[in-house]
Amino acid sequence: MSRAYNFAAGPAALPEAVLKTAQEELLEWRDAGASIVELSHRGPEFLEVAREAEADLRRLLTIPDDYAVLFLAGGATTQQALIALNFASPGQKADYVVTGHWGKTALKQVTPYVDINIAASGEDGGFRTIPARETWRLSKDAAYVHITANETIHGVEFRPAWGETPPDVGDVPLFADFSSSIASEPIDITRYGLIYGGAQKNLGPVGVSVLIVRRDLLERTGQPRANIFNYASHLQAESMLNTPPSYNWYLAGLVFKWMLAEGGVEEFARRSEEKSRLLYTTIDTSGGFYRNDVDPAVRSRMNVPFFLRDESLNDKFLIEAKDAGLISLKGHKVLGGMRASIYNAMPVEGVRVLAAFMKDFQNRHG
Ligand SMILES: Cc1ncc(COP(=O)(O)O)c(C=O)c1O
Repeated sequence: MSRAYNFAAGPAALPEAVLKTAQEELLEWRDAGASIVELSHRGPEFLEVAREAEADLRRLLTIPDDYAVLFLAGGATTQQALIALNFASPGQKADYVVTGHWGKTALKQVTPYVDINIAASGEDGGFRTIPARETWRLSKDAAYVHITANETIHGVEFRPAWGETPPDVGDVPLFADFSSSIASEPIDITRYGLIYGGAQKNLGPVGVSVLIVRRDLLERTGQPRANIFNYASHLQAESMLNTPPSYNWYLAGLVFKWMLAEGGVEEFARRSEEKSRLLYTTIDTSGGFYRNDVDPAVRSRMNVPFFLRDESLNDKFLIEAKDAGLISLKGHKVLGGMRASIYNAMPVEGVRVLAAFMKDFQNRHG
């Protein structure tokens, strides 16, 4: 079987060019005499890979010098717990804006450490929209305000059509989970105190997380914690406090180079706009055969959940899609239905093929 168009939410499709380079370099990295995955993380070869990856990510995302970049072994959920340990004093308030499943997960990770203030939540409305900024009840003395830039399961994303993005939260630093939308469009890093994300969607393979943090915040005392949970120590050790997930870091570095060569985040913003518009139009013009329930002002450009009117056709849809070379379209169990994740590695052509398949399926079963 040839490679299919893979709509998985994460681990997700990687650019084919990246996989080919990794394949060519797997047995021997350049002239090192060994694979990069076999070499010491302290050796000159891996140090070069690590430094290039950081430099490329800084260029890709226009990360200012007063922001540190960490490559960490834990997943995004681990960072959700660590941000409270590092940046909130015991019992201090932290504001959370909950716009879907992952915002709720973030809350669970910090419950023991901070006095949570749910400043706004879309849960009553089934997370189909983002509560208007005017309704948020922020605390003045919060350690930070946490948002989820893109909710991977519920398919809601902060978009300009909703209001000022990112939202103005005054002097309190804005922390954002960017796991599923990082590098999909230009963002002004200086509007955030901290950005984090697991790499397994837009940045590379699962097994490494990226954290971008304003350096002055690392001076906060936070909570009593082991050194391994201390971001400042990770920075001091150049993200090598653990033996780092070197192969994942290397692969992410290849993805950064690929994104730069393809035209950078401006180009991925254009492609994301085109891909998501194509898919939402297919759904919205299906006369109800397909349905997406999200407020159009906050529809995600990355993850498109949709439902068939006749849910008894779900299995048939998935089987026929697979036969057409389209895989991983089954929705997350929290919502059911279908979900197409269309991250940077998904070519526009893949979404065209999916849209054509959906129309054809509707013609045959509608
Ligand atoms: C937005 C978001 N945040 C957090 C997570 C959790 O990431 P991890 O599995 O790396 O802990 C995910 C995973 O899909 C996600 O989509």
